[in-house]
Amino acid sequence: MTLHQQADIVVLGSFMTDVVSYVSHLPRVGETLCGSKLAICCGGKGANQAVSATRLGANTAIIGKLGNDSFGKSYLDALKKEQIITDFVGLTSEALTGLAQIIVEDSGQNSIVIVPGANNYLTTQDVNNSKATFVKAKVMLSVLEIPRETVLTGLKLANELGVFTILNAAPAVENLEKDFYELADIFCVNETEAEMLIGQPVTNHDEALSAAHCLMGKGCKKHVLVTLGKHGALLLSRNDKDGFLDPVSVTAPEVKAIDTTGAGDCFLGALAYFLAYHPDFPLSKAVVNSCRVASKSVQKAGTQTSFPYKQELECDLFV
Ligand SMILES: Nc1ncnc2c1ncn2[C@@H]1O[C@H](COP(=O)(O)OP(=O)(O)O)[C@@H](O)[C@H]1O
Ligand SMILES: *[C@@H]1O[C@H](CO)[C@@H](O)[C@H](O)[C@H]1NC(C)=O
Ligand SMILES: *[C@@H]1O[C@H](CO)[C@@H](O)[C@H](O)[C@H]1NC(C)=O
Ligand SMILES: *[C@@H]1O[C@H](CO)[C@@H](O)[C@H](O)[C@H]1NC(C)=O
Repeated sequence: MTLHQQADIVVLGSFMTDVVSYVSHLPRVGETLCGSKLAICCGGKGANQAVSATRLGANTAIIGKLGNDSFGKSYLDALKKEQIITDFVGLTSEALTGLAQIIVEDSGQNSIVIVPGANNYLTTQDVNNSKATFVKAKVMLSVLEIPRETVLTGLKLANELGVFTILNAAPAVENLEKDFYELADIFCVNETEAEMLIGQPVTNHDEALSAAHCLMGKGCKKHVLVTLGKHGALLLSRNDKDGFLDPVSVTAPEVKAIDTTGAGDCFLGALAYFLAYHPDFPLSKAVVNSCRVASKSVQKAGTQTSFPYKQELECDLFV
């Protein structure tokens, strides 16, 4: 009975059905192409992160909105199969389930159209209605693929209830109101998202450090985390006076990357897991371990399909 199951992690986030066509080259204007293969998979940053945390063993609830259509219904089934708590997943008839149409050419280049659809109908009211699930949660994780006021309502509610908040400011946006920075215990972005927010390139640890300081300047009260793909991640934290702790540069394990899509989502789900289930770990250790989990995911094709289960990982991650 999912109804009485208590979530330790609450993801306030998005769902997308990924429809992927494989072609020899991307179509030009007016061109009709015959593709070689089709794949339909569950995606969307929120759901990806929930799947990542759940596969490590977390009791995870997702708050989100699907369309009252066949994609929505099969997505809901998939979430239940993953043992994600779906009590607060709504079905709307106002719009179709979020969809990402992805075209991948043989060279690996792709082009993507995202229609958020039902995700845009996740309201502040939906968050308020799910208050019960926040009350005992340890960590809330949110992304920007849903309406901003909904994210803010969730961050405020979590703060009121003493739930630790992680905001993944993704997809990339140019401007974010101060509240988002202030209400996030960890403000996490990748290189592209950091660049968009601060207007400076971020491609290595040094640039990530100045980006992190810049993001602190925008209102972050505790921690800024910048993920750097194969270079790992950078963590900057405030100390309890007016300054900062020494920044922590984490290197990612060197692995043969096959498909890095979803690496960031795998990382964030893992981070939420370590914070909720290993509160004794220093944050730097949680980040190191999350990099290790994410580096597993890049060695497999697909997004959710590439996220590891706890039993596939080294035991020392969990002690
Ligand atoms: N090529 C890679 N090799 C090893 N680890 C990787 C690689 N790409 C990503 N990762 C891991 O995944 C994390 C998130 O990746 P990143 O590319 O920054 O996120 P996003 O998916 O948002 O672009 C990184 O911090 C790193 O730990
Ligand atoms: C979904 O659609 C069905 C009809 O196809 C309808 O009976 C049901 O009430 C709808 N549910 C919601 C939540 O809109
Ligand atoms: C949700 O709760 C907040 C805080 O209690 C309140 O300010 C807001 O008006 C509520 N929103 C809705 C739509 O009920
Ligand atoms: C960062 O994440 C966005 C999605 O928000 C993605 O489009 C982009 O490619 C990522 N950047 C890097 C450098 O991986």
